[in-house]
Amino acid sequence: MQDREDHHWLKQGSTASGEVAKTYDDWAASYDVTLADWDYRAPKQAADLLAARMPPASAVLDAGCGTGLVGAALRAAGFTGPIDGLDISPSSLQEAEKSGIYRSLDTANLQAPPLDIPNNTYNALVCIGVLTYVPDTEGVLREFTRLVRSGGVIVISQRDDLFMERGFADAVQGLASAGLLTDFAISEPQPYLPDNPDFGAAIGVIYVTMVVA
Ligand SMILES: C[S@@+](CC[C@H](N)C(=O)[O-])C[C@H]1O[C@@H](n2cnc3c(N)ncnc32)[C@H](O)[C@@H]1O
Repeated sequence: MQDREDHHWLKQGSTASGEVAKTYDDWAASYDVTLADWDYRAPKQAADLLAARMPPASAVLDAGCGTGLVGAALRAAGFTGPIDGLDISPSSLQEAEKSGIYRSLDTANLQAPPLDIPNNTYNALVCIGVLTYVPDTEGVLREFTRLVRSGGVIVISQRDDLFMERGFADAVQGLASAGLLTDFAISEPQPYLPDNPDFGAAIGVIYVTMVVA
């Protein structure tokens, strides 16, 4: 079991699915308290970005929902429609279940698309704090566009260092050029985990809002 002092793994990250799942399973029971200690703002910021573009009744997929902080932020931002969650960490999903916010919660690996979800199922999709662990940027974003209906919106976050390293801007532009997006917006870097000693001001977060063609 990880204690609240033992999160240095987070900065380095990992794309080994088994290791990631175990880390988040071990952390699930105390994750919300730890993230509050670090002043984690991404769920609220993502929910606000989505609320600016989508109506309250939208059906939303929370990809990498973890313990459910984004679902709670979506409800706080006024979303009243169904919210489905998926994650690779079963213990995190059990925490999310307790909130009563999600219509469904399923185990899934975003590194292994296609997901077992039909095309055009959702009005919107959010993926917050997750893409650190998913190295194939173009593949996962393309999969997200498959799941969202035309005119729907995808909001994702990525650490600013990995945004550059993994060529996110080019990947998003590539999707638009391929006709899968009609519009997109990339935010300036913003504070991510300001009160985490490893992140602080060193690592920010960038949000990408994409409109599906
Ligand atoms: C930093 S947490 C973010 C959770 C939630 N979105 C939030 O903002 O609090 C990262 C989440 O991504 C999940 N995750 C990591 N790799 C994944 C993968 N390949 N497929 C699905 N979920 C994954 C982890 O289990 C964890 O719940």
